[in-house]
Amino acid sequence: MKKIDRETVQRILDTADIVDVVSDFVSLKRRGSGYIGLCPFHNERTPSFSVSKSKNFCKCFSCGKGGSPVNFIMEHEQLTYQEALRYLAHKYNIEIKEHEMSDAERERESERASMLAVNEMALKHFEHNLTETQDGRDIGLTYFLDRGMNEASIKKFHLGYALERSDALLRDAVQKGYNADYLVKTGLCIRTDSGRIYDRFKGRVIFPVFSISGKVIAFGGRTLKKDVAKYVNSPESEIYKKSHELYGLYQAKQAIVKRAKCILVEGYMDVISMHQSGIENVVASSGTSLTEGQIRLIHRFTEDVTVIYDGDAAGIKASLRGIDMLLAEGLNIKVVLLPDGEDPDSFAQKHTSSELEEYIKEHETDFIQFKIDILLQGVNNDPIARGRVINDIVQSIAVIPNQVMRNVYIAECARRFGIDERVVALEVSKTSYAHAEKASVKAQREAAKQSLESTPMTPPAVDAVVADAAPVSAVAKSDADMAFIRPFERRLLQYVLRYGMLRLADEYDENGEAVTIYVIDYVESELRDDDITFADPVVRKTFDEALKLRRSSWDGDFSANESLLLEDRARFIAEGEAEIRASDSDLSTIQRHEKELAERADVRYFDKQRQFASAYIEKVLCSHVDDDIRTLSLELVPEKHTLSKVHTKYSKVETDEDRLDDIVPRTIYELKDALLESRLRRIRQDLKSCVSADGSGERIMELMREMSEIQHLRGEFAKYLGERILSPRK
Ligand code: CTP
Ligand code: MN
Repeated sequence: MKKIDRETVQRILDTADIVDVVSDFVSLKRRGSGYIGLCPFHNERTPSFSVSKSKNFCKCFSCGKGGSPVNFIMEHEQLTYQEALRYLAHKYNIEIKEHEMSDAERERESERASMLAVNEMALKHFEHNLTETQDGRDIGLTYFLDRGMNEASIKKFHLGYALERSDALLRDAVQKGYNADYLVKTGLCIRTDSGRIYDRFKGRVIFPVFSISGKVIAFGGRTLKKDVAKYVNSPESEIYKKSHELYGLYQAKQAIVKRAKCILVEGYMDVISMHQSGIENVVASSGTSLTEGQIRLIHRFTEDVTVIYDGDAAGIKASLRGIDMLLAEGLNIKVVLLPDGEDPDSFAQKHTSSELEEYIKEHETDFIQFKIDILLQGVNNDPIARGRVINDIVQSIAVIPNQVMRNVYIAECARRFGIDERVVALEVSKTSYAHAEKASVKAQREAAKQSLESTPMTPPAVDAVVADAAPVSAVAKSDADMAFIRPFERRLLQYVLRYGMLRLADEYDENGEAVTIYVIDYVESELRDDDITFADPVVRKTFDEALKLRRSSWDGDFSANESLLLEDRARFIAEGEAEIRASDSDLSTIQRHEKELAERADVRYFDKQRQFASAYIEKVLCSHVDDDIRTLSLELVPEKHTLSKVHTKYSKVETDEDRLDDIVPRTIYELKDALLESRLRRIRQDLKSCVSADGSGERIMELMREMSEIQHLRGEFAKYLGERILSPRK
């Protein structure tokens, strides 16, 4: 699919009306100046989904979902941005001009289309076999029924059967006019060296694999005999990249969103049996360990994942590592262990859906705790073995991107092992530092490789022998530097997107007037003071856009909103007072109630003010017309909404929002420290080449002096970061 040109995008954005768009899915009632209805993103009985026509924006006050018309369609229909735009264009009869494809592009497109068409044909062929042929019914269908599948499940997952003949599919396809080449390209058939073509799946029951949008992209075939290979699967092809697909996702995606959770199992039968017993938010990794692509896929739909393990303990330890990847992606992981000897398939078949749900609810364990339990089995009090376990747990905690979550687990780990929290925290930060280091070494290697491949003749970079002046300031950065620094930059930008317009502190100007310092102001001035610009161009561009909002429209929007809030507050109080006075309480009770009412009105007012401020930047940037800005913003923003969950579950933990005055400066200092670190590396390199090339003593002295300056500065930072002092800025 081609990208839609900017002009058309803008037209779609301008035309789409939120009330109109939402009304296609939610029945809305007028309420005050807006509309309200039952939230389509979670189950609820009293409406908390509010739609504002004037702001062209919707939001659920209970689950936090919503946004512009495009956001709403993306979320509700589980579409990408481009797809959502097309949806809206169609709804409003806006014509989309496709720009011309090149010949190569067209060829690829038509090859993909042909492969998909052949797969679609094969799907029908296999389904037909299963119910409309004697062998299919006797062998395939009987097998599925014996395994407890019902007709509805067979239809829903389009199960099928491949006849026990080596050319049944081939013949059918060719007869219907399909080109045998595509049967080979999709892997439905195999071509021998001598040129003979035969069916890959003959004599097997068939599990089709669907893409997220419902296209058949592959097949799995299970043998019914004592065969060496229990499953045969389609090979990778132009249309099937195994590591980017999850079995069952197409059938599960709506339920995953609705239930705000994804259940992860191992195999085809597990998925189908769970569906059949009423639990539909289930997908399978198809036996292999999870890949990053699959994890991203899950993350598009939810942040909460529950992994179901078979009762047999052998596989569990081996798969623990894979889960660290889920943690690293920022997902919240729970684990359910089934009774010995059961897998999700057998277990789902033996229990009713409510029993199954009950079991999952009762046995869901937080992943880190689960991992501690598993690793501690048989360790007892052996200090060395315990040390190893702690280390392993620290590794898992260190990959978690969310600082708040990390802190929760650090506390939990410390408690479980009876060691000081600070010790665990230190280990964790050492480990995550090592990770960053490793990533940067890798990036360095890749960059080196790339530069070798692309420009084999270039001499060493000139700036490798020229010292830079100011230590913290931005200097031209190599790819390796960029890779090292990027996570720090993104972290900082993340806070700007989420909390940029929240108040960080008040300052007084020369007239003694209070001036509010917002998070974004603080970040901007810190960076400016040290002459830092973001190295990553997209981060820079996004930050600049946020700054633009702050400078051009915030003040006006803020005061406009302020008058609305004041009106709202007055109305709230008036309504409350009328109610209080209508009751027949005595005067002192009435006074007490009125005081409480005023307090409630204030809380409500400040809450709303805060909501407005915290949505201000993300709202605009997440639906920005610039692809880079929007994609990055969407990637960085969502985690915010999970914080409240952590907050309620572990009430002692504060949210990021409560600690901005600690976190924001800290994040800036971490970025500065990373810049120093990368500068230091470069000096070390220079020093090395200087020494080995017998360079001038003066030059070496200069480098060493610079190095010690930087190290001194880093020492100061470390002290700052260690002591967690926030020095008030002048
Ligand atoms: N799998 C595969 N290829 C194999 C073995 C396994 O693709 N050679 C995948 C399949 O998706 C399978 C899953 O791994 O569903 C789990 O494997 P296994 O537990 O062996 O199969 P089950 O699905 O449990 O099959 P059954 O219950 O029919 O024996
Ligand atoms: Mn099984």
